[in-house]
Amino acid sequence: MEYRGYDSAGIALLNGELNVYKKKGKVSDLQAFIADKDTHSHIGMGHTRWATHGEPNDSNAHPHYSSSGRIAIIHNGIIENYASLKTLLQSKGFTFYSDTDTEVFINLIEDIQNENGCTLEEAVRLALHEVVGAYAIVVLSKEEPNQLIAARKGSPLVIGVGKDEFFLASDATPIIEYTNEVVYVNDYEIAVIKDGKLNIKTREDVPTTPYIQTLQMELDSIEKGGYEHFMLKEIFEQPRSIHDSMRGRLIAANNHLIMGGFREYENKFINAKRIIIVACGTSWHAGLVAEYLIEDLARIPVEVEYASEFRYRNPVITEGDIVIAISQSGETADTLAAIELAKSKGATIFGICNVVGSSIARASDAGAYTHAGPEIGVASTKAFTAQVTVLTLLAMIIGSKRGTIEDSKLRQLMIELENIPAKVEKALELNEKIVEISEEFKDAPNCLYLGRGYNFPVALEGALKLKEISYIHAEGYPAAEMKHGPIALIDENMPVIVIATRDSSYEKIVSNIQEVKARKGRIIAIVTEGDQVIPAMAEYVIEVPETSEFLTPLVSVIPLQLLSYHIAVMRGCNVDQPRNLAKSVTVE
Ligand code: AGP
Repeated sequence: MEYRGYDSAGIALLNGELNVYKKKGKVSDLQAFIADKDTHSHIGMGHTRWATHGEPNDSNAHPHYSSSGRIAIIHNGIIENYASLKTLLQSKGFTFYSDTDTEVFINLIEDIQNENGCTLEEAVRLALHEVVGAYAIVVLSKEEPNQLIAARKGSPLVIGVGKDEFFLASDATPIIEYTNEVVYVNDYEIAVIKDGKLNIKTREDVPTTPYIQTLQMELDSIEKGGYEHFMLKEIFEQPRSIHDSMRGRLIAANNHLIMGGFREYENKFINAKRIIIVACGTSWHAGLVAEYLIEDLARIPVEVEYASEFRYRNPVITEGDIVIAISQSGETADTLAAIELAKSKGATIFGICNVVGSSIARASDAGAYTHAGPEIGVASTKAFTAQVTVLTLLAMIIGSKRGTIEDSKLRQLMIELENIPAKVEKALELNEKIVEISEEFKDAPNCLYLGRGYNFPVALEGALKLKEISYIHAEGYPAAEMKHGPIALIDENMPVIVIATRDSSYEKIVSNIQEVKARKGRIIAIVTEGDQVIPAMAEYVIEVPETSEFLTPLVSVIPLQLLSYHIAVMRGCNVDQPRNLAKSVTVE
């Protein structure tokens, strides 16, 4: 689970005693720390942390003991009323050894158990009524040793059901090695694994029937498969992952273009006055590409919103609105909260997620999985191209149903889209050349990315990739906007990456390149194969295969992913686990 947090790690093991071992740093640091400890146990829990309350150090790492040392907890999420609960518990004599909200949670459980003389399960259940915020927790007690208690609200929790054994995790990837039968715990549910049995109840103590699902996930999809990093593996997987995201949805030769999740809401889409897209980070960039696609092909106005802002600005949402939520993990708390808000105002939610069974997939009215396969590298790559592929299909389907796209144009686009995996394969052949360019620019403190039209979101995505894994300050801008400010940054030291493929704004972006050149900026241009004009102006030229303007992002983003990867490796950065980040951001 280390890709979801890696600033510290810890384990609690029950074996007569309840032993907690924890360490700042990676799982390997914890491993070294426990090398000489007795870790024999048949029941235990572990946690990798992404700090919210309190800096990453040994004492803030999870698991946390209660004051008496009798019970211990691991927790994802944030307890918002922890400060008042802590004051109350301190007044009752509880001592705290960390800065975390989690330690408050376990002491609250202990306090309730002390006062009521009840079972641990009952104390956990009562505590859940007291805390405000989000949580996925697991609790162990040395006094009730054949038992694990887990609960969730807002943060994901999955239980793997093996043969006489159970596995709990915040997503299915670590479980698949042991079993493909899983139960997704719902908000406000408590799972009790006791004496070899799993029982799930509501917070009101009403039993529910666990729904066991069989996962279709291969173990090798979560291994590096000979690549040095997951990110590189995932970049190179894109011809296949893009193909998988079209599988069963597009066969150009048969004029076959469908999307299962679309059918039930076809009329809503056809009649929609507006589509709102909510997402974060890379998924938000895919949303921006979709804005161009849906407005071009389906002629429906689209607004693309940062999920985190959307929720807090009292947006105007009506029942006719369709909200498309895009998320690789399907667990991003901001996106989930935006969905809940839109739902409460009557909007229809169409989710585009990669992780099957994720919270956003389940909270949506309808949707489409991207089928990119597990993405482990924290920097999103194949999820982006899979999202853009699915959104392209969606825009084409809406356009064809609304009659806003001519048949011949649609046919042409279907053929072009089918050819994209081969073109991405070709773009990946640029790898060696990009290594050379990376060598030249690896020490740059800043970098500017420019693009227009469909390549504007690609510029944003290129800049995000560079900053998140190489820690180089990078800005993405619409090329024409450069002259309204960022141009002041350009001098002979500034690398300017211009995505200038041959499209409707080609002439304009050539002028923008001239403007950069006039100020001695160092131009690296991503151009269409055979371009005769830009090579005379740029210091480095990267040629990508020609495709339809609508599909350009799927090809032009590839060299940018490779560039950020190689620069990060050359700078000695941890590519798969960049500092301060985590793969799924399950806190708001
Ligand atoms: C992408 O490289 C980032 N690590 C991040 O911006 C990510 O895209 C964002 O947190 C959204 O995640 P999601 O797609 O899982 O919702």
